[in-house]
Amino acid sequence: MSPASLVGKTAVITGATRGIGFAIAQRLALEGASVVLAARTVSKLEAARSKMQLGIPLVAGSEKPEVLQPHSIFPLNVREEKGWKSLVEDHPKIDILVNCAGMAQKSLLVRMSEGQIQELVDVNLHGAILGCKIVGKQMISRRRGGCIINVSSLLALRGSIGTSVYAATKAGQLGLTTALSQEYGRYGIRVNALVPGYVHSDMTRDLADKDELIERIPLRRFGNADEVADATAFLAKNEYANNCILHIDGGLSAV
Ligand SMILES: NC(=O)c1ccc[n+]([C@@H]2O[C@H](COP(=O)([O-])OP(=O)(O)OC[C@H]3O[C@@H](n4cnc5c(N)ncnc54)[C@H](OP(=O)(O)O)[C@@H]3O)[C@@H](O)[C@H]2O)c1
Repeated sequence: MSPASLVGKTAVITGATRGIGFAIAQRLALEGASVVLAARTVSKLEAARSKMQLGIPLVAGSEKPEVLQPHSIFPLNVREEKGWKSLVEDHPKIDILVNCAGMAQKSLLVRMSEGQIQELVDVNLHGAILGCKIVGKQMISRRRGGCIINVSSLLALRGSIGTSVYAATKAGQLGLTTALSQEYGRYGIRVNALVPGYVHSDMTRDLADKDELIERIPLRRFGNADEVADATAFLAKNEYANNCILHIDGGLSAV
């Protein structure tokens, strides 16, 4: 594994203000990429960027922490096509896209309003589709290949009570990944997906059945965002990873 293989690459990470997305941004920066942090809230984006530039060594193995390329922020609501279009105009050389922005489902299907269902589908699935389309189009026209990573979820394959729409959106991301790995693969653009189990973040902080879930996980713990970020770096760097659907779940997918 060459820690410097992302040097000079530009990586856009959606949902990068906190949790898994922020850990991914930090990790790809550590590998030498210039990262574009994207999410809705400018103040949170600014806070995330300044946290990255404080004491994070940007090149693994270098003695002195060094900022190779500046990291930037981009306010983006992944639901909105015009935001994605501005993103590619402002950043004409995107090498890596990580579709990590996402939201959780808060109630049973029968209690959800049409608006709540639509929002979940728009953010988790349609947002990823728009990113794949608009950034993918730029990657195709640049003719320099690229890598897209969709952050799905184990619930895509193992939906449970209270997760129906979320599970459907995450399963949709897997379908998107497999189809595009063929459609884009011929342009040297690799399309992969991460399938995390339960990971410590704001999204999982208040889960009511946490102890019960931990009991079911073979490794008896939730994952850390850094562990998902590590898997992301692997997918970004491994030139033969295409349609690689990578489980990172402490073994929960086996039970
Ligand atoms: N945590 C887990 O156990 C787990 C497991 C499997 C998969 N995942 C998936 O991993 C991803 C990250 O999860 P997380 O736990 O890190 O979540 P999180 O802590 O809740 O962070 C969500 C991120 O998405 C951004 N976001 C939300 N809606 C957005 C929108 N419409 N447009 C742009 N950005 C938006 C948020 O920033 P703003 O609010 O500032 O926009 C934030 O940066 C999600 O796709 C989630 O489904 C999580």
